[in-house]
Amino acid sequence: MRANAPIGILDSGVGGYTVARVLQKRLPKEDIIYYGDGGNAPYGNRTAEDIVHIVGQILDFMAEQGVKAVGLACNTSSALIDRFADNYDFPIFSIVQAGADEVLRRGMRQVGVLSTVLTAKTGSYPRLIQAGDPAVEVFSQGSVNLAALVESGTASEEEIVAELRASLGQLVTEQPELDTLVLGCTHYPIVQDIIARTYPQFTNIIDPALGQVENMKACFAGNNALNPGGGKLQLYTSGDCGKFEAMARQLGLKLSGPAIYKKVAHPL
Ligand code: DGL
Repeated sequence: MRANAPIGILDSGVGGYTVARVLQKRLPKEDIIYYGDGGNAPYGNRTAEDIVHIVGQILDFMAEQGVKAVGLACNTSSALIDRFADNYDFPIFSIVQAGADEVLRRGMRQVGVLSTVLTAKTGSYPRLIQAGDPAVEVFSQGSVNLAALVESGTASEEEIVAELRASLGQLVTEQPELDTLVLGCTHYPIVQDIIARTYPQFTNIIDPALGQVENMKACFAGNNALNPGGGKLQLYTSGDCGKFEAMARQLGLKLSGPAIYKKVAHPL
């Protein structure tokens, strides 16, 4: 593992910015190559086969860039990690694993997980949490539109709240004591305040981003591969470059130089 090689961060769109901004804070000397697949978002309503096909192309691109590791800042892709991780000679960090580890670390007994439809369908959160402690009760809820609403950058609070009620309404009625919610999609921390206002019963809202970044940091430290002097962020997107750059700035990312490029991945 080369210390001064970049770290790849991958998401279906702007959601992974919630991981990249933590990475920039915790490891400011690392170079980051971020790929946001806005042209194919949302991933959460696609088939597993399609996601494996698309993500394979993006990981091949990351391999060409010589990355030392990839942070899969996309729960929907991370839920399928076993289907492609062995094809690459760099480590790939799953955000679902980081979220499950955080639930176990905090000793939660009951958790809700709000995610995309595909992530919920894979059952990956309950599987990984219950692999650590079979007694933890996990309530997975898939949201059909929340990631797309956040990705649009133009959705009103009313639209976000209506989608939250559609995906979480039944769960909170049936489980009024449930106080912990995992944000099982990287787009959701962007609207965390709206989620907290809409459902104040969730006094513990878990964003797996910090755990994922800490996992990467521990790996680099253990391999003597912390970058001593980088810090650049380059953005690649299959979506709208102008919008993609504007949202990066809005979410507090530090961009360097001419930093945005168009790069397309093809669905099945
Ligand atoms: N942000 C991604 C995730 O964490 C995917 C959202 C989507 O494109 O549906 O699952």
